[in-house]
Amino acid sequence: MAGGRALFERLHRMQDLVPFTPLADGLPTPLDQVDDRLWVKRDDLTSSVYGGNKVRKLEFLLPIAARRGALLVTAGGIGSHHVVATAVYARQLDLEVEAVLYPQPITDDVRRTQAHLREQGVRIRLTPHRYLMPLVLAQRMAALAPFRPYLLWPGASTPLGTLGYVSAALELVDGWDQPAPPDTVVAALGSGGTVVGLAIGLAMAGWTDTRVVGVRVADRSVTNPAVLGSMQAGTLALLALGGYVSCSAARPVEIDGRWFGPGYGHPTPAGDAAGERAASYGLEVEPTYTAKAFAAALARADAGERVVFVQTYAGG
Ligand SMILES: Cc1ncc(COP(=O)(O)O)c(C=O)c1O
Repeated sequence: MAGGRALFERLHRMQDLVPFTPLADGLPTPLDQVDDRLWVKRDDLTSSVYGGNKVRKLEFLLPIAARRGALLVTAGGIGSHHVVATAVYARQLDLEVEAVLYPQPITDDVRRTQAHLREQGVRIRLTPHRYLMPLVLAQRMAALAPFRPYLLWPGASTPLGTLGYVSAALELVDGWDQPAPPDTVVAALGSGGTVVGLAIGLAMAGWTDTRVVGVRVADRSVTNPAVLGSMQAGTLALLALGGYVSCSAARPVEIDGRWFGPGYGHPTPAGDAAGERAASYGLEVEPTYTAKAFAAALARADAGERVVFVQTYAGG
């Protein structure tokens, strides 16, 4: 199998055209049916080192940082799984990581993530508010310019990183053993690469009637149709290099903002209840992303849709 990735199996030429370093040792991830109308794509199991969704994107982005050498700069909340995943895999490639972090409500998961960040030796710059993050990031990139740092976009959601979830969608279709595709695929929507990649990959595989629902867990100013649309256009441009020309109307991602609650990282009662249901299926979710997304997935399955939930959380 070409690089062990469904995308390269489908578009052989891509492998010669895009940077790629295998980091995830758990692919393809299992697809478990946990209830009558509910399946879970187990992306908590993408890697035995640190699973979750980020490693699929980092496989396409970290090789560029490694080519540059030395230092990578990124950003996220103080409990960012993205920053932990980046630090874990950057270390494997001998890269140092500096992260600009902004406050978010402290939960058990945030505490655990902070401990991981300390363990990984990430150099941390704190900013007092998330809206100041882009300014501080720019300031750090300017200050560190003599070291030629690589800027890893927060959330690793660039067109290149999004290829990781195009591949995940192809993997999902390959592993589906039901007579008809599901009605809906649900995932948490933060920086957007996960759901945009899923929507493109499902269309590529011919699941044009399956809707992809992104459960918005971040502010509308950073997570909105314009941001997702430009990421989709950029990713399709990369795929065109590999010979994929999209004529079929890929359904745009549906953004579901009803589960967001008071703000980024704030637990919600629906998310807490979803966490209990998740535990009864042997799954672990956390309040910022996956509890809210799982609440949405459950509501849809309970209302009669056949739903695949993409479990993007590595686990605590
Ligand atoms: C556990 C988890 N799920 C989902 C997401 C959201 O993915 P994306 O940023 O691709 O929208 C994140 C992002 O950090 C995450 O940590």
